[in-house]
Amino acid sequence: MKIVMVGSGYVGLVSGACFADFGHEVVCVDKQESKIAALKRGEIPIFEPGLTELVRSNAAAGRLSFTTDLAGPVSAADAVFIAVGTPSRRGDGFADLSYVYAASREIAQALGRYTVIVTKSTVPVGTGDEVERIVRELRPEAEFAVVSNPEFLREGAAIEDFKRPDRIVIGTEDARAQQVMADVYRPLYLNSAPILNTSRRTAELTKYAANAFLATKITFINEMADLCEQVGANVQDVARGMGLDNRIGGKFLHAGPGYGGSCFPKDTLALIKTAQDYGTPARIVETVAAVNEQRKRAMGRKVVAACGGSVRGKTVAVLGLTFKPNTDDMRDSPSLSIITALQDAGATIRAFDPEGMEQAKAVLPGAVTYCDNAYECVEDADAAVIVTEWNIFRALDLDRVRTLMRSPILIDLRNIYRGEQVREKGFVYADIGRGISDPVSSHAIDAA
Ligand SMILES: NC(=O)c1ccc[n+]([C@@H]2O[C@H](COP(=O)([O-])OP(=O)(O)OC[C@H]3O[C@@H](n4cnc5c(N)ncnc54)[C@H](O)[C@@H]3O)[C@@H](O)[C@H]2O)c1
Repeated sequence: MKIVMVGSGYVGLVSGACFADFGHEVVCVDKQESKIAALKRGEIPIFEPGLTELVRSNAAAGRLSFTTDLAGPVSAADAVFIAVGTPSRRGDGFADLSYVYAASREIAQALGRYTVIVTKSTVPVGTGDEVERIVRELRPEAEFAVVSNPEFLREGAAIEDFKRPDRIVIGTEDARAQQVMADVYRPLYLNSAPILNTSRRTAELTKYAANAFLATKITFINEMADLCEQVGANVQDVARGMGLDNRIGGKFLHAGPGYGGSCFPKDTLALIKTAQDYGTPARIVETVAAVNEQRKRAMGRKVVAACGGSVRGKTVAVLGLTFKPNTDDMRDSPSLSIITALQDAGATIRAFDPEGMEQAKAVLPGAVTYCDNAYECVEDADAAVIVTEWNIFRALDLDRVRTLMRSPILIDLRNIYRGEQVREKGFVYADIGRGISDPVSSHAIDAA
């Protein structure tokens, strides 16, 4: 099948490369000339494990190509996927759909034979109706259908998620379009991935409901962690005790500095706005978003407290900047709020992240000293904060860290160390919700 991906970012590039790997003929389009030029040279503009090999092998096999020119490939396509960004709109938090609508207009002008236009971008309920209206207005005679096919991949495990999804949601009531989508996903049908055929609006809402629920789970355990700190309980054991219940499940129950990333913050806000517009406010999600927002900055205060109440004139080493490991994505990362809070409190910041530093430099305000590795980062620091649980931070040589630091204070916002193990080395150690009184936690040992 001939497939076009409009937008070659995290979702477009991964989806395009995976579709090509299924055997389809895929053209990835992007407006950014530098991105397309890099891709043509075999250079991958984002960090995603396994993506470089997948892109290169499929490009070499002639199944995957890149262009800034949408018209040619769209005129011959069976399916055109819209995978452009839908960031929060300034002011009201609703999804900014200008990129989706601009792409829709460009696609409309280029349509040739019967084409299925698929929104893979996360878009509020009803967006498919508007895309259909835009295309119909510009090309009344064109043969097309608009389908919603939200993407559930996780950055850092995106290829695995795309090829072995928990489910594929296809939103359309058009039988012909459903057949095209079945052909697009045929290799996954053969792998018996659950396919959910729904109405277009249902598919659109399913994506937001899933993200809002995951954000709620994270926020719930974060609040439990705060309570654990007050009552001397261990949140990792609480989470384990909850998660072993099949009705709850153990995933997304890791207490930390608050959720971030390119999806949860903006998608919760967009859902809140949609629900308000329809007169059915999503109060739980509203609370989740508010609690999470406050939490990120509160983590700055946690560092200040661990430093004895002030960081003025002190140096804080920040280990990890991305919102989670195995990505270079800095969008809405908790590190941004934490660093700003510490700078506001008078601290000087040194930082290291294995993949995120280029993106961080573009978004982090103020002066930050970027270091080449974790040890350089903690040199002469008065405190070190683990913000992202990259594997390389899990087995630091703590003796070396202690010698390098001006004062040995470690704040572990991901609970990757065991308190007694770090304290034994002479550190002042603070974590999230594990209460000093509970040192021999089985789950803490698993996680360390
Ligand atoms: N990143 C994720 O983990 C993830 C997961 C699931 C869903 N999503 C959703 O997928 C969508 C895309 O997210 P992303 O992270 O890939 O975004 P991204 O910013 O990485 O990529 C979007 C790309 O689209 C390009 N673009 C914008 N307008 C264009 C146009 N008219 N023609 C061609 N290219 C155009 C941009 O230049 C950019 O390269 C969003 O709606 C997001 O919510 C993202």
